[in-house]
Amino acid sequence: MAQRRKLVAGNWKLNGSLSLVSLFEKGLDNVNLPNVDVVICPPAVYIPSFKSGPVLGGQNLAVNDCGAFTGEISGEQLASVGAKYVIVGHSERRELFFEDNQLVAAKFARAQNAGLVPILCVGESLETRKSGDLFAFINAQLQAVLDLVGISGFTNAIVAYEPIWAIGTGETATPAQAQEVHEFIRAWFAKHDQACAESVKILYGGSVNASTAPELFAQPDIDGGLVGGASLKLEEFITICTAANK
Ligand code: PGA
Repeated sequence: MAQRRKLVAGNWKLNGSLSLVSLFEKGLDNVNLPNVDVVICPPAVYIPSFKSGPVLGGQNLAVNDCGAFTGEISGEQLASVGAKYVIVGHSERRELFFEDNQLVAAKFARAQNAGLVPILCVGESLETRKSGDLFAFINAQLQAVLDLVGISGFTNAIVAYEPIWAIGTGETATPAQAQEVHEFIRAWFAKHDQACAESVKILYGGSVNASTAPELFAQPDIDGGLVGGASLKLEEFITICTAANK
């Protein structure tokens, strides 16, 4: 089986400042992490402020490429200031900004048209998990994207499994819980294309921190992390990236 290179992406959400940018620029310039891709997704206005350090990504993009859509930012605009990745379908976008599976799929396609690598977030609420509908729920989230872009659309994309109950709660999924869903997602890809299943990176997100990262990243189907709160703390973020570098 192909060896997948690990990736750790920090999602700053609505946090950060120019001084945090400069702290991370310098801090990440000085670490040697040859086996992991390190990505930071700051608020979009800070993307051009990074002159060195991590690879950059957006946290969201408009579903339109231009026009009268006040406050929106297109994939092309993100790419033009240096973004290489963009998070699509984060659970906060789905819940707080009412993004459904079809809109998320359309944004995924837009991201790729703009030359960005989409980081597609999927994941269930505690209620869904308890109801036993976990796998059907994840299946529907993936299927909506597949229906729009086809399996070839996933050859240059990343999936992040982020159980909603673990996001920002301090309650990380156990490595076994995370691995179970990652394995399901990889098997889902394998039904469509074995090569894609072997190459697609599946990140885990949800309260990843310095102490939980090593065991999570040691799971066979976990290819790195999407890190929220701990990505705002330079030392801890470097420790997490170091765990993925092993
Ligand atoms: P968290 O956020 O690490 O703070 O739980 C993860 C995310 O929302 O991507």
